[in-house]
Amino acid sequence: MATWSAPGKVFLFGEHAVVYGKPGVAMAIKPRIYVTVRKSRNPTRAKSPYIEGCFREMGVRGSVYVRSMLPSSSGLGSSAAVTVATLSAINDEFRIGYSRDEIASAAYGIEKKVQKGKASTTDTYVATFGGMVLITGDSKRRLPPVNMHLVVGCSQVSHSTAKMVGQVGDMRNKHPGIVNPILDAIGEVTMSALHTFAKPKEFGCYMDINHALLEALGVGHPALTRLVLAARAAGAYGAKITGAGGGGSIIALCPKRAKSRVAGAIESCDARAVLTTIDTDGARKERTA
Ligand code: PMV
Repeated sequence: MATWSAPGKVFLFGEHAVVYGKPGVAMAIKPRIYVTVRKSRNPTRAKSPYIEGCFREMGVRGSVYVRSMLPSSSGLGSSAAVTVATLSAINDEFRIGYSRDEIASAAYGIEKKVQKGKASTTDTYVATFGGMVLITGDSKRRLPPVNMHLVVGCSQVSHSTAKMVGQVGDMRNKHPGIVNPILDAIGEVTMSALHTFAKPKEFGCYMDINHALLEALGVGHPALTRLVLAARAAGAYGAKITGAGGGGSIIALCPKRAKSRVAGAIESCDARAVLTTIDTDGARKERTA
């Protein structure tokens, strides 16, 4: 029996702009998904297409048990985390010998297949390696980890990443002269914010600008606007949509003493708050009893 876990992720900056080759920053965050795999002669059929994809990829059969601390369908990378943790557990239980790079690339292949071609390498990379990553086109550079106090607000409004990416693409085709400068500006915000990890007020200000630019791209939602405003009013340094928008989640950077207040403000808007910080481990073997 082998148990492995993998973290969720947030986009700190640059979602949507990364689709057009602009820089963005994603970070692994603490809530994890735990997956236990056991060799079994009579495995039960996995209910998740991601888990099924993992067993197919590795060419073995076994039983699987999943325990998730990560809200699903909220733009926090839960499908990537379950895929990476399942592949890692199968790899260990059946002694297959995949490297971390191979796990990340197989996980991407599975997500892409299940999501009918609509997946980026970001989620599976971050779930495998953890930490903070600067994404530019196809390249990924790991950044030194920074400990920050974040509160995630899950709006409980469902969204589709593929739909939001398509919507931004349509808007760009229709108004290239307006949308391209917005995407460029998001890239500039990302690059400027990289110098302010030690200055949370400035960092928060860049988050606010990034949020306004995402709204200009049409990926806002009234529920997300409420959460962002509530977080800022409760003392956050800055707050923004994280991920594709149109629903899903926001993130707020907070002074340590304001974390609970910001979480309370988010929950009073009928949303779920998750207090979190960076996860530096990525996919990790857990002790099994
Ligand atoms: O909603 P999420 O967490 O899957 O993030 C999507 C981020 C986009 O930039 C909109 C799309 C992508 O593939 O990078």
